[in-house]
Amino acid sequence: MPLAVTTGSTGTAGAAGATGTPRGPAAAAATATVGATATAGATGTAGMAGATETIAIEVQRYRPEEETAPSWQRYEVPLRRDWMVLDGLNYIKDSLDGTLSYRWACRMGVCGSCGMMVNGKPVLTCATYLSALAPGPVRVEPLRGFPVIRDLVVDVRDFLDKLKSVKPWILRSEDKPLADGEYLQTPAELAEYKPYSMCINCLLCYSACPIYALEDGFVGPAAIALAQRYNLDTRDEGAAERLDVLSQHEGIWACTFVGECSTVCPKGVDPAGAIQRYKVAATAEWWRSLLLPWGKASRSAATGDDRGRSPSRSAAAGKEQAEPRPAGDERSRGR
Ligand code: SF4
Ligand code: FES
Repeated sequence: MPLAVTTGSTGTAGAAGATGTPRGPAAAAATATVGATATAGATGTAGMAGATETIAIEVQRYRPEEETAPSWQRYEVPLRRDWMVLDGLNYIKDSLDGTLSYRWACRMGVCGSCGMMVNGKPVLTCATYLSALAPGPVRVEPLRGFPVIRDLVVDVRDFLDKLKSVKPWILRSEDKPLADGEYLQTPAELAEYKPYSMCINCLLCYSACPIYALEDGFVGPAAIALAQRYNLDTRDEGAAERLDVLSQHEGIWACTFVGECSTVCPKGVDPAGAIQRYKVAATAEWWRSLLLPWGKASRSAATGDDRGRSPSRSAAAGKEQAEPRPAGDERSRGR
């Protein structure tokens, strides 16, 4: 998970136990516009140098100590050809209103912390040109589907818990001795999982996913894609353990293949493809467990390719495998 940086004066990023607004579409509903207008007319500010035009940015504000619901605030910022939406927010923060809170770190599409809704779409604000949104106004909201802690800062603990549940790290029953050297992979083996390893945990896919907003338990696109990243790694033996989580309704079967997660992904990870691929493999594994009860495999659970690897720890321990359920089956929602 990228480092979360809040530039807000109150320092609320990732605040545990924060009293955020409820998760889901209703949380993003705008209330009355407070309409404080700040004109970027001051001379001598760095952002104004050379700027002749301005563009309006309307930011959804939520300050829990003084508001019970979100409101909108409008700012005028310089419209420079090389500015991203994040530059506009930084201008507001530095020159107009130091109370605005939001996350960012790398400013180059790597850390994944600057995701927000811009004109209704989940984007990386450091990779979205302001000029492409002219003449404006540009509407900036917190990522949809997550509780809001303050202004544009959302609570991502739900994602972190779900990510941890799929064990996104290499699992092995035992490591080979150091004297045996590295774990070698061919370029083709690397290419199998590399696309999924490009995920930067920006959570745009969660904001775009209608199921994540509706199903509290849904593991979600990035966590499933990252589970696949390790399932497909020839060094890993943990596919059967992950299958125990992913084959539940809240795992892969809640996904109705809307596909928006892959559309909005800035890194080309294709989580929708990962989920469908996993559905096929999990179904095959289920049939295999019915027909060959002794034959529960490890990597084949995700890949359909056992490549002669040894059973995982859970398989060796004889853990019962959950049966796949069709989308729409609500037996395991827990609501
Ligand atoms: S899969 Fe793509 S959109 Fe989703 S968190 Fe990873 S990089 Fe972001
Ligand atoms: S600031 Fe790091 S991805 Fe945008």
